[in-house]
Parts: sequence; structure tokens; C-alpha cells
Amino acid sequence: MPAEVITQLDAARGGLYIDATLGMGGHSELILNASPDNRVIGFDRDAEANEIATGQLAGFGGRFTAVHTDFRQVKEVIREKGIGSVAGILADLGVSSYQLDTPERGFSFRFGQGYPLDMRMDRSEGLTAADLVNSLGERELSDIIFKFGEERAARRIAHQIIAARAKGAIKTTAQLADLVVKAVHRKGHWRIHPATRTFQALRIAVNRELDGLDQFVADAVDLLESDGRLVIITFHSLEDRIIKQALRFQSGHCMCPPTQPECRCGATPRVEILTRKAIQPGEEEVAVNPRSRSAKLRACRKLPA
Ligand SMILES: C[S@@+](CC[C@H](N)C(=O)[O-])C[C@H]1O[C@@H](n2cnc3c(N)ncnc32)[C@H](O)[C@@H]1O
Repeated sequence: MPAEVITQLDAARGGLYIDATLGMGGHSELILNASPDNRVIGFDRDAEANEIATGQLAGFGGRFTAVHTDFRQVKEVIREKGIGSVAGILADLGVSSYQLDTPERGFSFRFGQGYPLDMRMDRSEGLTAADLVNSLGERELSDIIFKFGEERAARRIAHQIIAARAKGAIKTTAQLADLVVKAVHRKGHWRIHPATRTFQALRIAVNRELDGLDQFVADAVDLLESDGRLVIITFHSLEDRIIKQALRFQSGHCMCPPTQPECRCGATPRVEILTRKAIQPGEEEVAVNPRSRSAKLRACRKLPA
């Protein structure tokens, strides 16, 4: 949704923008091209993404800077740079096509044998998917697969994993995918591969993708100048639900349970929501880029203080 991103960010206005999820730098390039006065600071926790995007955007000289950091640190990093406020912030959540399409990164099972079950976006720290699969208890594994993968066969899959690892560690994407197929007893023609949900669940757990997203929204709103824009693209319902709720809270919507007699959540209107319904890609975009089919874009505008 490149055009919608630029429109919702109001990127033709000219100013400093943050691309919280730099990836290959595609969105940053669009922002930089939207006005000669635009500058972009790009964040990515994946050092390889930062390197590639920095190369791609070299032509923009000092108008572009990359930071190898988790975007949940955005407020600290921007304040450390002595910057008071920014014109817009974009977060295009999830994994990049580059990460999915690089077999050695271990995000996908479609490359066959021999690829490590890694799935870390930041390869310099943290546990890999293999670490989780080989160390967690059956209950914990089942909970992760059920909660983050919305997988109904989570228990059977966790059971199969525990039984298999008693015979030797599960080290590769293919080993795990085979175990899932065995657990769900499905052969032949699938609409989606039976391991898709389990891989999504482990990826979310490895990268703690849902942690602190609501705080990120609050920090991003803090950083926006008056009339500045926050645009967030999500790729699955768990993420979208958190972003939708966080934006509603920032718009002043009380989040207290209906049974509570008075408001204690402290909601005050700081933004205007610009997308009452999330924007989704049109048929043409989905035809060209099937991965975009589950994308949802939400945006808001900071109200004057
Ligand atoms: C969907 S891709 C972004 C693609 C990008 N908009 C482009 O035009 O190429 C998401 C990127 O965000 C990064 N990412 C995901 N979660 C992150 C986080 N918490 N902090 C920093 N980067 C993150 C991933 O490493 C990945 O490169």
C-alpha cells in the first residue's frame, strides 16, 4: 500500500520521519522521494537489513540515517539524538520478504533440508526457535503454538515435538515442518501448509513481537509534532488487535471494564484516528504481492497539545 502510506503520513509536507521497520528501505525511499525536504531515520533490529537499506539509500546522502535498534527503543534513541519531535512515524510490522526468502535465517520451511531453525530478526542476541523447541515444556510449547499461531492442533503438535526430541535435538526447519505434518495427520493438498501457523507462533515468540507494542504506540505519539502522523501496518489479527486498542486509547477512548463505576485508565484524547476501518490492499496489489493479502493499515494524527 505504498500510496496510502505516503498519503496517511502526509509525507509531501517536508520534515523528519522515522521508519521504525526499515527492511530493505522501500518505504524510506518513498518518503525521501515525497519531498526534497524530507529526512528519514530508519530503525531495524536486523543488522543485515540495515546494511542493505543503507546501500540502497546511499544516493540520499545525509538525508537518511540507519539505526540498528529495536523500535521499542525509539523514544530513547531519538531523545539521545537531541531531537524534540518528528513529522511522522511508520511501522510496517513483522518479517521482511528478505528474511523469509533467505533459507539460512530459518523463517521458512519451503527450502527443504538442512536449514537451521533460527528465526531471530536480530542474530546478535536471544534464543533461536531451535532453542525454544528443544528446551520448553510440552505445556509451554502448546500455549505458544495455540496463542501466537491460533493453531487448533497445538497440543498434538507440542506432544509430537516432545516425543521427537527425546530421540535427538530438532535442529532444522524441515525437521520441524515434518513433525507438524505428522502431528496433524494431513497429507496431500493443503490450502496452507500445516506448519504455517506453528512457524508463525515460534517466530512471534522468538522475537517477542507482541511485547510492548502498546507502549511503542504511546512513545510514538509522544514523539510526534502537532499534526504529525503515525502509520502502522500489521500482518495478523493478534498484532492488529493490539494496535487498534492502543490507538483507541490514545484517541481518548476509555479502556476500563464496563463494570467499573468510574474511569481509572486515564485516557485523554491525544490523537485523531484517521482510519475508522483499517485500509487493506486492493485485489491488484494482492495479485502482484500475495503476502500483502493480510496487511491492515491504521493511521492517526497528533492533536495540538
Ligand atoms: C515487513 S518488514 C519492513 C519492510 C520495509 N517497510 C520495506 O519497505 O522494505 C519488517 C522489518 O522490521 C524489522 N523489525 C520487526 N520488528 C522490529 C522491532 N521490534 N524493532 C526493529 N525492527 C523490527 C524486521 O527485521 C524487518 O526487517
